Amino acid sequence: MAKYTIPENIKNEELKRWVTDMAELCEPDNVYLCDGSQEEYDRLCQEMVDAGTFIKLNPEKRPNSFLARSHPSDVARVEDRTYICSLSKGDAGPTNNWMAPKEMKAILTPKFRGSMRGRTMYVIPFCMGPLGSPISQFGVQLSDSPYVVVNMRIMTRMGQKALDALGDGEFVHCLHSVGMPLTQGQADVPWPCSPDPKDKYIVHFPEERSIISYGSGYGGNALLGKKCLALRIASTLGREQGWLAEHMLIVGVKAPDGHKDYVCAAFPSACGKTNFAMLIPPKEFRDEGWEVTTVGDDIAWIKPDEHGKLHAINPEAGFFGVAPGTNYATNPNAMDSIKENTIFTNVALTDDGDVWWEGMDGEPPAHAIDWQGNDWTPSSEKPAAHPNARFTAPITQCPVVDERFDDPNGVPVSAFIFGGRRNSVVPLIQQSFNWAFGVYMAATMGSEMTAAAFGNIGEVRRDPFAMLPFAGYHMGDYFSHWLDLGRNIPEPPRIFSVNWFRKDENGKFLWPGFGENMRILKWVVERARGKSKGFETPLGWMPRYDDMDWRGLDFSREQWDAVMKLDRDMWIKEISTHDDLFFKLYDRLPKEMTFIRELLVSNLWRSPELGLAAPRPEEEDIKAVAKGE
Ligand code: GTP
Ligand code: SPV
Ligand code: MN
Repeated sequence: MAKYTIPENIKNEELKRWVTDMAELCEPDNVYLCDGSQEEYDRLCQEMVDAGTFIKLNPEKRPNSFLARSHPSDVARVEDRTYICSLSKGDAGPTNNWMAPKEMKAILTPKFRGSMRGRTMYVIPFCMGPLGSPISQFGVQLSDSPYVVVNMRIMTRMGQKALDALGDGEFVHCLHSVGMPLTQGQADVPWPCSPDPKDKYIVHFPEERSIISYGSGYGGNALLGKKCLALRIASTLGREQGWLAEHMLIVGVKAPDGHKDYVCAAFPSACGKTNFAMLIPPKEFRDEGWEVTTVGDDIAWIKPDEHGKLHAINPEAGFFGVAPGTNYATNPNAMDSIKENTIFTNVALTDDGDVWWEGMDGEPPAHAIDWQGNDWTPSSEKPAAHPNARFTAPITQCPVVDERFDDPNGVPVSAFIFGGRRNSVVPLIQQSFNWAFGVYMAATMGSEMTAAAFGNIGEVRRDPFAMLPFAGYHMGDYFSHWLDLGRNIPEPPRIFSVNWFRKDENGKFLWPGFGENMRILKWVVERARGKSKGFETPLGWMPRYDDMDWRGLDFSREQWDAVMKLDRDMWIKEISTHDDLFFKLYDRLPKEMTFIRELLVSNLWRSPELGLAAPRPEEEDIKAVAKGE
């Protein structure tokens, strides 16, 4: 006689079997199938308020919204506890942690035995991507966290509708436990997790298409549709099936002539994807008819259609965005997206029951409760909000959500943009000569270490394609996959690189950024259409000062030269450090990477005058020199 009653709405045979087995392993008090309804969401939120996990915010200030404070040990993704357990170690590659699947399961199975005692096992069926899209994928997450359930309802297409669409089909098995069973009536805590940093496991089995996550309740560690499924597992699926799963925003750009382009852009975590995905063009551009719309802010799945044209979908249905620094100047559309129906995690609570974080508009409150639940005043030494505090909000609340964000066919991709956080060396904008050069540039992009990241401050960490923590297979194979894809489609999109973060010698940003990035975006989409002008440099094409639209911004030629400068010696040094990455990936590095590096070095050597981003001499000048004038 089975101990557990499996919800009768579960008809999928494999799901029935798996839920039964996992219930017997984890020993929850009961098994609950999530239907994804508003009623269910409200009920779980109220239960969390009663349990002390959620604080209901002032309904007049922030209707239907809640604040959660995590355990101080559980505030971000844990890259050193993240594993790709492919059958062969070589397939995970040197940039991922690896353990043999059998060995890992021998560790994890005992951890899950009885891990859900005293709790409910929630069965969360979800779809990544629009229901009915040929690009979408199904997952089912089993979790003992109601916080996960309500976040998954915002972030994915979750509940009965996903279960119906799944039918008898296949799904990614996602098992999750916060790792804190309640034995013998032990009292719960507001944020259960496994507090020992070594006792968290975020594990992927690419061949089995399954995910097991233990010990954390936060973000990408626990909302398994996001980084685990939509990037790590999906990237391995995409490689087998000829498509891409990328750490990219998707943005629509409508020109005054009505022509609309969609652009995908990859920036590493906390480097401005959410800002760029919702940017508001300067007034002069808006008045003329330029419109920017949001399809996604974190992940893109990109697939060639039957003509070889790339189409992108956002597999997510919500934003899980960084709160600190978000305000009505930097990102008004994000501020409007989180006015209501939002879950805040690790921000500060104001005395009037609203939220606050560093960098929000206006004066800091005279008093607040910080993310750890302590009194806070502006003279406190610690920040009120954790730097990785986040909001969870439905994408439909974004005032500029694109009309096609839910289109099962996705949106056509006109251009790719890659950008890291570099104080120096890398210019504001440049276009690669062709697909292979673009792959090289994306493969070698990097970010300077900030205090938040591991490593030495100022040191450049290579973050190929902004996918270092997210590629589910060998990074060298990943580069090959990109090269192959470009070869197999008739007109691959153009590839650009940007750097919003270049600084002057006093540490001041050389480029105003945010809405002003529209000027770069305009050059990009027009360039993709063969309309805007540029000139050739040793590294790619760049716009001249006069190729840019400066209406409404006071930005001088000298400022432009500073933010676009290519310093030959610095670039030769930069390229020599690319080898650190290439040697690491040597066994599977595509040859093109080495050849392109050589081409770039030789281009630089043949441009001794390179200093300012100046145009090459005009034809006439060259003829004059040749004639000895
Ligand atoms: P994940 O959600 O972690 O993947 O990251 P994200 O890329 O969505 O990060 P997010 O948009 O939250 O990045 C915010 C950071 O980027 C903040 O430090 C912003 O100040 C900074 N930022 C965004 N756009 C710009 C810009 O145009 N210029 C400058 N200087 N900083 C920017
Ligand atoms: C990132 O770290 O790139 C994120 C946040 O988007 S999380 O979902 O927590 O991984
Ligand atoms: Mn991200």
